[in-house]
Amino acid sequence: RSLPDRLYSAAQTRELDRLAGEAGLSGEQLMERAGRAAFELLVQRWPGVTRPAILCGGGNNGGDGYVVACLAREAGLQPVIHQDRPVEEMTGDALTMARRARDLGVPMRPLTPDHLPVDAPVLVDALFGTGLSGVLRDDKKALIEALDRLGKPVLAVDVPSGLAADSGASTGAVLHATCTLTFIGVNRGLLTGIGPVCTGELLFDGLGVERRVHQRIDDPVWRPTPADRAHWLPPRRRDGYKKTYGHVLVIGGDHGFGGAPMLTAQAAGHAGAGLVSLATRAEHVAPLLARQPEVMARAVDEVAQLTPLLERATVVAIGPGLGLDAWGRALLEAALDSGLPLVVDADALTLIAEWQPDARQDWVLTPHPGEAARLLDSGTGAVQGDRFAAVESLAARYGGAVLLKGLGTLVRGAEGTALISDGNPGMGSGGMGDLLTGVIAALLAQGLPPYPAAALGAMVHARAADGAARRDGERGLLATDLLMDLRRELNGHDH
Ligand code: APR
Repeated sequence: RSLPDRLYSAAQTRELDRLAGEAGLSGEQLMERAGRAAFELLVQRWPGVTRPAILCGGGNNGGDGYVVACLAREAGLQPVIHQDRPVEEMTGDALTMARRARDLGVPMRPLTPDHLPVDAPVLVDALFGTGLSGVLRDDKKALIEALDRLGKPVLAVDVPSGLAADSGASTGAVLHATCTLTFIGVNRGLLTGIGPVCTGELLFDGLGVERRVHQRIDDPVWRPTPADRAHWLPPRRRDGYKKTYGHVLVIGGDHGFGGAPMLTAQAAGHAGAGLVSLATRAEHVAPLLARQPEVMARAVDEVAQLTPLLERATVVAIGPGLGLDAWGRALLEAALDSGLPLVVDADALTLIAEWQPDARQDWVLTPHPGEAARLLDSGTGAVQGDRFAAVESLAARYGGAVLLKGLGTLVRGAEGTALISDGNPGMGSGGMGDLLTGVIAALLAQGLPPYPAAALGAMVHARAADGAARRDGERGLLATDLLMDLRRELNGHDH
């Protein structure tokens, strides 16, 4: 089943459980359904398995695990429970399930770094779910590290143990899963930070909780989909012409850096901007014209030459190849003063971090974690430790929409937070970010506000890369390879 387009914090997940209860689904019923779904996945993915090890923690995640054990036993398998906590120390619904497993005679063993399921063919990880908070206690950290070292196939129930479901960071150690089956609502931390590395294949089961229950949760994280893209970019008007779709001015390419802004300009054109100009150093103009004649490349050696270009543009994309010298600084200053909406990337972000200008609503900033750290005057580790908090701080400080790159790209605007779960490791190659800047600029030029322009731009960019990777593979994917895929994606065509 495909993932939903709403993602939740751990607190929102708890609220969802409570609202599901109000709607008539008790905690016990939900636990039974979750356990059944996990059991069915277990026998589907590991068809001949006879002695799965079920790792059960002391909370409700453990309760789900006890249900899996019961069902396995009833199906004639010989599951073994490895408990983090004895049955009588459990509480609530989890206690009910643990007693059922005991009454069925499922063997139970203690689980410590010295007592590990070394012979098990597969582990069902129901140790910690969304209830894990703060930093893992030392003994549990040692346990999870020892389990992870076993290198066994793992089916994680709801959340891989040790992953912070809220942020997608590690709480100290994480048991890496082969697949993760998550329930009711998808926790946002599964899809950003190290989440995607830990979950393996991520599967979702709504357990029958209705859409109207989900709609009672305010301000979920938005996972943009192609349907959103179609909504924001309907078919072009019959009577539209080039000026209907805006004029993107890309500014960048100091001596020796001509390629980066060219990629931005090409991407803007392939993402539907009506006109694209490129202000760059004189020596780049001729080769760029030869490469893509639709891009109006102009020599700009001083700010006076930029002024008429700014007057004709409707959107500025600035940063790729801009450099940090006097030339780039002067051009950035003029762009900021122009009053045009901006996409600010790369070197321009470094200058913004240095200058600390006032917040503004008409720009999109696209930092990677290192640039984000500079903008926040913190460290990359702190940014990655809670990417949601980082992107919220960035948007609060700088205004507009802020896009935080990295696995599980986040976008924050006044309207909310978006998470892009598309994309693949093929995108780890030079020039990919330059393309993204151009796509977002083109969407601004076509009339989208900063937040949807950034969120949908990132989705289109990532899905274009997914299409290209499906066709020709991830390794060796070049930025220029994506240009036609961007176009396909923006038009809803298959790759
Ligand atoms: N270090 C060690 N143990 C911790 C820490 C920590 N930092 N934080 C929490 N725990 C322990 C708690 O003491 C408790 O035993 O983790 C356990 C709670 O974990 P969960 O089972 O994840 O929490 P709970 O809220 O009970 O259940 C949520 O239930 O709906 C199911 O699987 C679903 O993930 C969901 C889970």
